[in-house]
Amino acid sequence: MSLASIIRSERALLVPTYDRHKILLEEGSGVYLRDGRGKKYLDFLSGIGVNALGYRHPAIQRTLKAQAGRLIHVSNLFFHPYQAELARRLTQISGLERAFFCNSGTEAWEGALKFARAYARAQNHNGGKPKWRILALDNSFHGRTFGSLATTGQAKYRHPFAPLMPGVMFVAFNDVADLEKKFDGSVCAICLETVQGEGGIRPVSAEFLQLARNLTKKARALLILDEIQCGLGRTGRHFAYQHYGIQPDIVTVAKPLAAGLPLGAILAKDRVANTIHPGMHGSTFGGGPLACAVAIEFLRVLDELLGQVRKSGDYFRSQLNWLKTKHGCIREVRGLGLMLGMELDSAENAKAVVAEMLQRGMVINRTNENTLRFLPPYIIQERHIDQVVHGLDEVLSSSLPPVGQPPRASRSTRKES
Ligand SMILES: Cc1ncc(COP(=O)(O)O)c(C=O)c1O
Repeated sequence: MSLASIIRSERALLVPTYDRHKILLEEGSGVYLRDGRGKKYLDFLSGIGVNALGYRHPAIQRTLKAQAGRLIHVSNLFFHPYQAELARRLTQISGLERAFFCNSGTEAWEGALKFARAYARAQNHNGGKPKWRILALDNSFHGRTFGSLATTGQAKYRHPFAPLMPGVMFVAFNDVADLEKKFDGSVCAICLETVQGEGGIRPVSAEFLQLARNLTKKARALLILDEIQCGLGRTGRHFAYQHYGIQPDIVTVAKPLAAGLPLGAILAKDRVANTIHPGMHGSTFGGGPLACAVAIEFLRVLDELLGQVRKSGDYFRSQLNWLKTKHGCIREVRGLGLMLGMELDSAENAKAVVAEMLQRGMVINRTNENTLRFLPPYIIQERHIDQVVHGLDEVLSSSLPPVGQPPRASRSTRKES
């Protein structure tokens, strides 16, 4: 089927949730994607942080084929060999003690919120007073289901679906005074992304995270970190919180965990997990043998790549900072490891740069309106970074419209996960 007829069919048949680039992707290999006409794209987005090992990684392909030939799904009414092994690996690298498996980021986050409420109820530390408020951060993103939306601090995602889950209050990002003001004994959890992704690639400050840890510890509330985008090696450590020297009570992960298959996980301390009993939470598909077998292999390969992520991240960041010295439209370069953002002076410019880079065969995207987002596969080499930096340099030098005018590239480019 041609791209034109696929577009026509999708327009007629799909709920119009996505505004896609008009490109038909047919295969991938290493750090490259290929479209239906044979055009190659260097991928610096990894399916929004999912394809961390790039495409057709030999170890993943081997495991996938072997396990698909054996057993794809069994219900959670029975055992299979891989959930416990995957939980062992995840608890070893996180310092947490138990795992629950689901299918996506938002499901992991929903589960984490349920665990927080269940823990508070079971502990009843507050002498019977209600302890169910949740503090989340302005500008955050935690997913599209109701609890996740309720804790997402961006009006555009929340408003169409109000009223949402009650009991959530938002704290200004990295504002320690606001956190102190809003925290009290009625709070069961402080929830945040260690590095905000959809909010424009913004790492939480060490001071803010430490305060969140201290307050929750003292009040026997929970610190819940969303590492769905920034976890599992993306920042050059297994988890982004490991850059800060603190230990959370719950962490959620998903995106790259099963190298492209849907799999999410909630990692929790024993004392939290012990308040959940059979029947309180569950999933039909979550933690199936195919996804878990692949995730074990993903984590094995990841161990060999963490050093390379740090090295590539440092190099890429230094190159982006060099671009900043050359181009007045670049406001700031932010991020950790291979989770990098470059804020431009306008959404129009960011939109035009994404479109022009695509035209030149390089996939990047735009988040929070005016921030270019880079989430390349962990296997990228310096030469790939050089190609993207060179592309950006040319695009920023030549093709940007003056602010306030329509971008030169006419294709619609608005993309958010
Ligand atoms: C930080 C964060 N949390 C949660 C989610 C939701 O994950 P999913 O789309 O797998 O439901 C995302 C997705 O982009 C995310 O970046």
